[in-house]
Amino acid sequence: MLKGRHLIEPGDFSLEELDSIFALGDHMIEKQEDYLEVAKGKLLATLFYEPSTRTRFSFESAMLRLGGQIIGFDNPANSSVAKGETISDTLRVVSCYADIAVIRHPREGTAHLVSKAVPNMPIINAGDGGHEHPTQTLTDLMTIRHEKEDLNNLVIGVCGDLLFGRTIHSLVKTLNRYKNNRFIFISPRELKMPDQIKRQLRPGSFIETDNLDDAMHKVDILYMSRVQRERFVNEEEYLRLKDVYILTNKKMKNAKKDMIVMHPLPRVNEIATEVDADSRAVYFKQARYGMFVRMALISKLLGVD
Ligand code: NCD
Repeated sequence: MLKGRHLIEPGDFSLEELDSIFALGDHMIEKQEDYLEVAKGKLLATLFYEPSTRTRFSFESAMLRLGGQIIGFDNPANSSVAKGETISDTLRVVSCYADIAVIRHPREGTAHLVSKAVPNMPIINAGDGGHEHPTQTLTDLMTIRHEKEDLNNLVIGVCGDLLFGRTIHSLVKTLNRYKNNRFIFISPRELKMPDQIKRQLRPGSFIETDNLDDAMHKVDILYMSRVQRERFVNEEEYLRLKDVYILTNKKMKNAKKDMIVMHPLPRVNEIATEVDADSRAVYFKQARYGMFVRMALISKLLGVD
């Protein structure tokens, strides 16, 4: 039963619960017309203390497509934070108005903290610093289910900023809960996967390299990511690392015919635009799956499914 629950990290939900969200998302893709009014009279609040395009828009479109309504801000300077209010207090007040809230914040652990302050309203973490981004993981798994048909027995190449990439942290930990998935972590030395995450993976289930070319022919999924400029203390370091990996058509020639390229977006330079025309590039489709899976998630947490 997901009604009334918070989603702070993917591990909050069992694999069966995740599966129930995907099944509902599948049904929503097929029969969108059946869900046009399920959230009628309900209000979703979006509190974005950090920039976002697709996550906020996908939540807002999801709620509107379910017949619900939305309130929120994407610039905390326009909220009472500017007057010194704590986020927990802001959320307590929001819970007097809204039925469910989505929060993104640059500080790790913020969503967890506020979820303790509002036990009676579901809180969805839309990214807390470099920590977790559970609804991107739902989006990613929904995409993999559709494009690869199985969430098990995959070789996943994860490339780019493995240190700060919260979508990657959430995804890797979750795919590790399925059967026999293996990872190739591709990053420069400075942006390696944190030990704290590697310790949670099955022994022997991953290798680390800085060479994308060597990995290309081995992977079923290549998950590219942006170097997370906003988490760097040193701009020069960012500039030095930002273009280390650029996926091009030439590199794609060595990949399996049925591999897929994913990216949470926004893309900067890490995938050349020429790759977009390759049928294996699914990152824009991925954004669409993200809306449907968020519709399913909202319905489940509101108990209107
Ligand atoms: C990601 C994020 O915010 O972590 N974006 C998203 O939600 N789709 C990835 C990123 O910003 O690089």
